[in-house]
Amino acid sequence: MNVQIKPNDLAAFWMPFTANKQFKANPRLFVGAKDMHYITNDGRRVLDGTSGLWCVNAGHCRPKIAEAIKAQVDTLDFAGTFQMGHTRAFEAATRLVDLAPEGFNQVFFTNSGSESVETALKMAIAYHRAKGNASKVRLIGRERGYHGVNFGGMSVGGIGPNRKMFGALVAGVDHMRNTHDIARNAFSRGEPEHGAELADDLERLVALHDASTIAAVIVEPVACSAGVLIPPKGYLKRLEAIARKHDILLIADEVITGFGRLGTSFGSDYFGISPDIITTAKGVTNGTVPMGAVFVKSHVHDAFMNGPDWMIDFFHGYTYSGHPVACAAAIGTLDTYAEEGLLTRAAELAPYWEERVHALKGLPHIIDIRNIGLIGAVEFNPDPAQPGKRAYERFVKAFEAGLLVRQTGDIIALSPPLVISKSEIDQLFDIFTKVLKADY
Ligand SMILES: Cc1ncc(COP(=O)(O)O)c(C=O)c1O
Repeated sequence: MNVQIKPNDLAAFWMPFTANKQFKANPRLFVGAKDMHYITNDGRRVLDGTSGLWCVNAGHCRPKIAEAIKAQVDTLDFAGTFQMGHTRAFEAATRLVDLAPEGFNQVFFTNSGSESVETALKMAIAYHRAKGNASKVRLIGRERGYHGVNFGGMSVGGIGPNRKMFGALVAGVDHMRNTHDIARNAFSRGEPEHGAELADDLERLVALHDASTIAAVIVEPVACSAGVLIPPKGYLKRLEAIARKHDILLIADEVITGFGRLGTSFGSDYFGISPDIITTAKGVTNGTVPMGAVFVKSHVHDAFMNGPDWMIDFFHGYTYSGHPVACAAAIGTLDTYAEEGLLTRAAELAPYWEERVHALKGLPHIIDIRNIGLIGAVEFNPDPAQPGKRAYERFVKAFEAGLLVRQTGDIIALSPPLVISKSEIDQLFDIFTKVLKADY
């Protein structure tokens, strides 16, 4: 591999979710990756503590996935799925549905988590209309939720900076409070004890808006992008019961918790909930080819099937929904997950992982540590004058020391590929401990 590649001109690429000026003054660039490591343009190996962006669950450049993609490009590079089809899409959908929790018999393909969310929100509104409940149009999200960056997902999402520049957003959206409560739950291991009653926020919003106006509630089982906010014990089941009582569809946004992150195929399995729609992306192709998949229960799907046979049942889809190369990547990914037992591996590693994450307690400025499955997070006491800076500095220092972590606000999240070994977990925390010991 040529690791000598030097960046030439960094100006043309306007990077997403990046401080462009700062990055381009001091870039961090990868030129290769294998299994648990990235390789930088100056030839250093960096341990991937974040599975790329929470997507490379099986580790990097896995042969079966790469071979499936290469073979597909040579055989059928593109075929649409509007009023036509190709066999790979049906094969991938069947394989995915086989893996899904009880009752999910259909999958709708998209190209990203954001598109999966838009698809699910549109489905929810159209579902109620198809059932004769055309007034059920409101969407309920949660503060600090992240559901991607398109208008629907941004609107149900609850991260201030992601919303404030973009106008009035989608109408008819309201939010529950988030469940993060350091005062009561700091240093929890797994699901925190306190806060199940926050699910009653949905009842409050029903009282305010009336159930006859509410189509769906969307939550991440674990709110990862906003800093790993783990649901309190009983919260999700309570939310599910309230949604069910009021004929409000429950959408579980499993773009991160899908495909083994918690030690079960889906987060819904882990928490014992049964939503109506599950949104996924990322791990569906191990991050290799953009793809999203929206899983739907039969009652949702079947509500769309009542029109004349010749008529389109859902006026929605993307040119690349079920792209053959993405489908091949998904099949190669599911094979890899199955052969290596990766969808349950986080459960085996979780106790060891938990010990190592919580051993960071006491290092400078840490006010909370939390973990679930193969996810960990460290929260720092913000510097009041410069919020976010403490975690950012530690992210940069970790990268320089050979470890990739993910920073959001004053929180650092860890979510390594599920193939990580115990000795690599040790390496990860040895590097991270050194970085956190220094007081910047
Ligand atoms: C829960 C959740 N939903 C949606 C998204 C958006 O996915 P994408 O960046 O693929 O559009 C993400 C991305 O991190 C996510 O975590």
